Amino acid sequence: MSVSASAPVIPVTRTSSPRPRPAEDALGFGKHFADHMLVVDYVEGQGWIAPRIVPYGPLSLDPAASVLHYGQAMFEGLKAYRQADGRIALFRPDRNAHRMATGAGRLSIPAIDEQLFVQGIAQLVNVDADWVPSAPGTALYIRPTIIATEPFLGVRASKTYTFFVITGPVGAYYAGGLKPVRIWVEKERVRAVKGGIGAAKAAANYVASLQVAEEARARGCDQVLWLDAIGHQYVEEVGTMNLCLVIDGTLVTPPLGGSILPGITRETVLTIARDWGMPVEERLVSIGEVREAHAKGSLQEVFGVGTAAVVSVVGTLASEDGDMVINGGDPGPIANRLYDAITRIQYGLDPDPRGWRVVI
Ligand code: COI
Repeated sequence: MSVSASAPVIPVTRTSSPRPRPAEDALGFGKHFADHMLVVDYVEGQGWIAPRIVPYGPLSLDPAASVLHYGQAMFEGLKAYRQADGRIALFRPDRNAHRMATGAGRLSIPAIDEQLFVQGIAQLVNVDADWVPSAPGTALYIRPTIIATEPFLGVRASKTYTFFVITGPVGAYYAGGLKPVRIWVEKERVRAVKGGIGAAKAAANYVASLQVAEEARARGCDQVLWLDAIGHQYVEEVGTMNLCLVIDGTLVTPPLGGSILPGITRETVLTIARDWGMPVEERLVSIGEVREAHAKGSLQEVFGVGTAAVVSVVGTLASEDGDMVINGGDPGPIANRLYDAITRIQYGLDPDPRGWRVVI
């Protein structure tokens, strides 16, 4: 895929006070922000208007803005990767554009123009090209967001919105390889419910996870395994990531039933595994089945997949019923192979037969 050269050029106001670049060996995640941001307004009756790239800085919001009261907000996450040859590529940005446009409806947010999303991000990243790091495992994280801005306290959808995109350099999520994490199996509280907003990347889904994640940390766990909201039986997501299991040589992941985010890394993982000829199943998996497979020795691997970490290996599933240690607590071969395959395409080290890389 390539970015259209004929797309309208978005006006740029350059910063007069560029900030110093952080050292690339200690970037962490979400701590540093590049010099510019993309901003687009929405006004009912006019659509998405006045795209502009401006210096990174505070937004001005009326205290009655509906996002502050009723939570009409959604976001996306993708990255720009410094290629082996020095150029910069995005990875499947059209999928983020599509997810934001289709997820918006459930939140009564007007769909963003998908072409504007991709072209705007390509132009923004080019303006801040110097901010794309090049140390191994680093990238420029891109955070598109939509918020409702109408100053009105009646409970209905806002008539005005702001779409903004900020970016910032991030490090390898886990320095030194795929560090397995310890996960708390949460049997009471839920992240999302079928019929709710779990399939959209709504800010509110993340609020629902914070208290539980904090308690998991107090128990010595890194994150939470979310079960379904109705019977608290079926595994759904892990932390902020989609969940994959390898059971008896088959890659298994829960189906997108309305409460699960349609992850772009999830989609990529399933496509690559199928290309390898690996059996892949999208089906319900109960925590009972996980426990049984573990007892029989057929639960080979468990891992989360998402943009930030690509693959996050689950070493232990902890609950009141005791610990399940998976693959001796070490990363398994499928997690390792998927991580390598995806990151090698992202950094331009391997061929890209499906056209997932977008060189900008
Ligand atoms: C991801 O795994 O990419 C996420 O969704 C995490 C993000 C909210 C920081």
